Amino acid sequence: MSTTNVVLVTGAGGFLASLVARALIEDTQTPNIRLILTDVIHPKIPSGRGTTDSEHVSTIKADLTDPKEIDALFNTPFGIPDTVYCMHGIMSRGSEDNFDLGLKVNADSVRDLLQCARRYGAQLGRLIKFVFTSSCAVYGGPLPDIITPETIATPEGAYGLAKLSSELFINEFSRRGLVDGRILRLPTIVVRPGPPAAAASSFLSGIIREPLKGIEATCPMGTNISSPELDLPVWLSSPQTVVRNLIHAKHISGSAFPRHSRVVCAPGFTATIRDEIDALRQVGGEDALKLIKFEDDPTTKRLVDSWPQRFDNTYALSLGFTLDKGGMIPIVESFKKDVEAGIA
Ligand SMILES: NC(=O)c1ccc[n+]([C@@H]2O[C@H](COP(=O)([O-])OP(=O)(O)OC[C@H]3O[C@@H](n4cnc5c(N)ncnc54)[C@H](O)[C@@H]3O)[C@@H](O)[C@H]2O)c1
Repeated sequence: MSTTNVVLVTGAGGFLASLVARALIEDTQTPNIRLILTDVIHPKIPSGRGTTDSEHVSTIKADLTDPKEIDALFNTPFGIPDTVYCMHGIMSRGSEDNFDLGLKVNADSVRDLLQCARRYGAQLGRLIKFVFTSSCAVYGGPLPDIITPETIATPEGAYGLAKLSSELFINEFSRRGLVDGRILRLPTIVVRPGPPAAAASSFLSGIIREPLKGIEATCPMGTNISSPELDLPVWLSSPQTVVRNLIHAKHISGSAFPRHSRVVCAPGFTATIRDEIDALRQVGGEDALKLIKFEDDPTTKRLVDSWPQRFDNTYALSLGFTLDKGGMIPIVESFKKDVEAGIA
């Protein structure tokens, strides 16, 4: 019988962590899994292949701004997790609008979770893997044309600040041998299903998602389909690729990272907002295009404008992370299939 893999996933009521939960259940490299899913809203048990009964999956409603609620996650009948996916958070626009809540959730609670992982790892007698979803919003200010692992991150927003500060703690805890950290700076993920998120980048999914469902979408950049704002490049990845890379992050050896940093910019590709709209036209037709309405929003514009547009994927690819191929069109086609199948 293989050993049990106990994995804690925070933010599991959200978009990405619920996909990671499902992928973990199906992951052949994580056999005999015991999955603890937590969120401030009650997370759902993932559907799909694999064992999802209460013997294997536990869902716990918890507010991670309360250290006692974090502690309880390490004291379930499943035992101490050997891996933590730290994925809860308040997104970029939400953090910008409510600075204190953003700091509390995106920085303070992450540090409390990290301290717990350190304490319980010592009890377990091995380092707990701590996989953290960071963001390209850690970058701001004047940036080189292409971001490399050497580019210094200087955020220009509350979300990026909190993510960067959490990264620094995870790096130092890893360097000291207190946890085994793995940090992925994720590109903006398109197409995100479900309702719009409190993220400045939310419209990048909305302008594809809503029209393919026959609903109007608002583009907060530019005033019409010919606006120069639509030529702004953004750094993107599909949800499928990001989830695959988050599972891969768990399986890399800790020794693959340099001493000073557990940060990897997850591979992505560059597309402009106009490229997205062109892909929508190609996949969804002119009728879908007509459903995009333009309402220029200066806060969104400032945030999106400050984000980097191109990265060098070499380091991430050398660690075995993978990349979307074919740009926006296959992503929009795949989302359209999900809409038609009633799962988006
Ligand atoms: N989606 C993207 O494009 C993207 C890009 C870069 C980074 N990320 C990061 O990936 C992770 C997942 O993002 P997502 O898009 O799935 O976001 P999401 O908003 O769908 O999920 C975040 C979850 O965190 C939960 N949460 C918020 N406050 C909490 C609290 N106090 N206690 C417990 N849970 C709490 C929310 O209820 C939500 O379900 C986040 O850390 C995010 O910062 C996402």
